[in-house]
Amino acid sequence: MAKTAVQFACTDCGYSAGRWFGRCPGCGEFGTLVEDVLSASSAAKAPPKPVLRLADVQAEDAQRIATGVAELDRVLGGGLVPASLVLVGGEPGVGKSTLLLTALAAISKERRALLVTGEESSAQVKLRAARLGGAERVEILAETDLDNVLATLETERPDVCVIDSVQTLYSQDVGSAPGSVGQVREAAARLLRTAKQAGVATILVGHVTKDGTVAGPRVLEHLVDCVLQFEGDRYHAHRVLRAVKNRFGSTNEIGVFEMTGTGLKGVPDPSEVFGRTAGSEVGSAVACALEGTRPILLELQALVAPTDLAMPRRVATGVDPKRLAMIVAVLGRHARVALGSADVFVNVAGGVRIDEPGADLAIALAIASAARGVPMRDGHAAFGEIGLTGRLRPATQAERRLEECAKLGLAAVVAPPGTPEPRGKLRVVNADKLPQAITAGLTAAADN
Ligand code: TYD
Ligand code: MG
Repeated sequence: MAKTAVQFACTDCGYSAGRWFGRCPGCGEFGTLVEDVLSASSAAKAPPKPVLRLADVQAEDAQRIATGVAELDRVLGGGLVPASLVLVGGEPGVGKSTLLLTALAAISKERRALLVTGEESSAQVKLRAARLGGAERVEILAETDLDNVLATLETERPDVCVIDSVQTLYSQDVGSAPGSVGQVREAAARLLRTAKQAGVATILVGHVTKDGTVAGPRVLEHLVDCVLQFEGDRYHAHRVLRAVKNRFGSTNEIGVFEMTGTGLKGVPDPSEVFGRTAGSEVGSAVACALEGTRPILLELQALVAPTDLAMPRRVATGVDPKRLAMIVAVLGRHARVALGSADVFVNVAGGVRIDEPGADLAIALAIASAARGVPMRDGHAAFGEIGLTGRLRPATQAERRLEECAKLGLAAVVAPPGTPEPRGKLRVVNADKLPQAITAGLTAAADN
């Protein structure tokens, strides 16, 4: 019988202590510490290793495994690294199982691909696979016992293995229930060791809820090589995959997918989907935002409605609420767009999230358009960061953004001075401060 020690771990930040606290000393959240039983076996001692000079380290140039899903490969930084451990997090129903089964199907054409399913039965997976097509060679194991899963990985040694989900795995050595912090951490730690030893690229599926409170993914982030977050709400067709952490590539790349009746389809040109560029409406503005190395046109929508509330509402969907509050304040103080007695709603069309300051100007223009009841000029987009003084600051990688606007056939871009001259038909309208940008961006009725 392995010796066990009782620890308490925070489900939010992973802080652990020898006793229980009502409030986590690590992150300050209340009621997040839960019992976390560590088994002595998870701390087995390894012999000391010699120290090497970096020059003497053998670095095998890892051949990446293409997943066959171009958008996923991009987010991973060019494919899966052999023997790495990747965590794919997302809310239930967002499409994690679908995405990974699609990838396994493509991988299985040339390599061994194993799906360990703890959530669905083999028959359920087969039904899904029939919808997606091409998954006949994917191997499947319906198992939730961690020891059995590890033993299978050691003997079968597939090239790629997907564990769906890490929360269903259960180890006898840990006293707590499946899905608890202790179980999830034990499973991930032992899978990590097996992934490296047996050379299996392992992808863990982890559920997170909107507020990220379910035990699991959060406490694993430091352990795994990559953390991918699959976002989008189930009522919209579009999904965005982002890298939150990546030891083998950039964390800026995103992958865009559309959920269809026959699985997830990559969207190689998201601007065409999210940035409705023809015919402006009141309360709508097109932003050219940068997601990693990829510029994307997004349509921002705003609604300004009179209210009797003492504290008018500021509701942001897809935009950081603090950023929205700041933009509303700057509009009122520096651009004479008074919103003190109005509710302001801002939404990014298509259910996408954006947290790049380069989108500030488009958010402000959408709100100004809604407040004044006049649309943006036809074929105009905007980018630029708004400072607290109302002055606009150039956005990074302006050339890239301009290229994207030109590609989508826009007429003009409202941007801060210092933005380079674009080639071709696209014009740049420079605006130094927010009031000038509003004049340049909105149709003439706004010039009062
Ligand atoms: P799923 O991959 O099971 O989500 P997760 O593993 O993240 O919980 O699928 C999510 C949703 O996608 C589900 O509600 C059904 C829908 N769906 C389609 O619309 N088309 C398809 O081809 C498939 C397989 C699923
Ligand atoms: Mg699933």
